[in-house]
Amino acid sequence: MIEAKGITKRYGELVAVDDVSFSVEKGEVVGFLGPNGAGKTTTMRILTGFMPPTDGTAVIAGFDIFEEPVAARRSVGYLPENLPLYPEMSVIPYLDYVAKIHDVPRRRRREGIERALERCGLTEVRTRVIGDLSKGFRQRVGLAQAIVHDPPVLILDEPTVGLDPLQIQDIRSLITELAAPRDGETQHTIILSTHILPEVAAICQRVILINEGRKTVDAPLAELTSQGHSLEELFARETAHDVVAEQRGAAEAGSGGPGAAP
Ligand SMILES: Nc1ncnc2c1ncn2[C@@H]1O[C@H](COP(=O)(O)OP(=O)(O)OP(=O)(O)O)[C@@H](O)[C@H]1O
Ligand SMILES: [Mg+2]
Repeated sequence: MIEAKGITKRYGELVAVDDVSFSVEKGEVVGFLGPNGAGKTTTMRILTGFMPPTDGTAVIAGFDIFEEPVAARRSVGYLPENLPLYPEMSVIPYLDYVAKIHDVPRRRRREGIERALERCGLTEVRTRVIGDLSKGFRQRVGLAQAIVHDPPVLILDEPTVGLDPLQIQDIRSLITELAAPRDGETQHTIILSTHILPEVAAICQRVILINEGRKTVDAPLAELTSQGHSLEELFARETAHDVVAEQRGAAEAGSGGPGAAP
């Protein structure tokens, strides 16, 4: 359902994403992990068609982001890191506006909005002004705008950041429901980034970890946490790796190169 093929993004000298490939199956919820600046947001922006890669491509629901960009973009719902919600707008006109941007025909917009309101638990606040809603509800509006055009793929960049523990639980259950829907509803394939490792344990089936732009882990959660290992240990090990190598490199350089005694 999502296929990333050698995605690379350079900003001048900086390689923000370096030859990242992975695939995500239908209905999977994948946790996208990595320290600050690892390249998660950059990768997500590329997958959603927000920004072109320097190299590589991606296929979303069968559509290549270069060859069929419109169809690829229509197949994905995106909750960006800092969603620009319009605080002065009410919930329904905002969702209608987003549906319009996604080219949902007028006759299907109403239905899409109703479905998004219902699935995101927004029915009671449907007539409210977005700016007056609590942060948790605004986050639900963010999710609703990601699903209003009923895309099969969802890319969620830190969906629970800044929420209180109860709101976090709420959003997590919502994400789980979106991947395992009731009859007749779209089953979403989801990639979400987060810094909360228990979140990954709670809702993801698979973990992809990137560090300094490179993919270093891509495995089922169950496999990673078998034998009593925790995700915290994995994260520490995978992200400390380069620091250790750098320190070793620096020590070797300082002591006369690789051949020198430690
Ligand atoms: N528009 C840009 N111009 C130049 N460099 C950028 C730009 N956007 C991102 N970067 C750099 O690319 C790297 C990856 O950034 P990115 O935002 O993808 O990381 P991230 O994994 O999402 O981090 P975080 O956990 O902090 O959200 C960083 O070094 C960042 O400074
Ligand atoms: Mg980010």
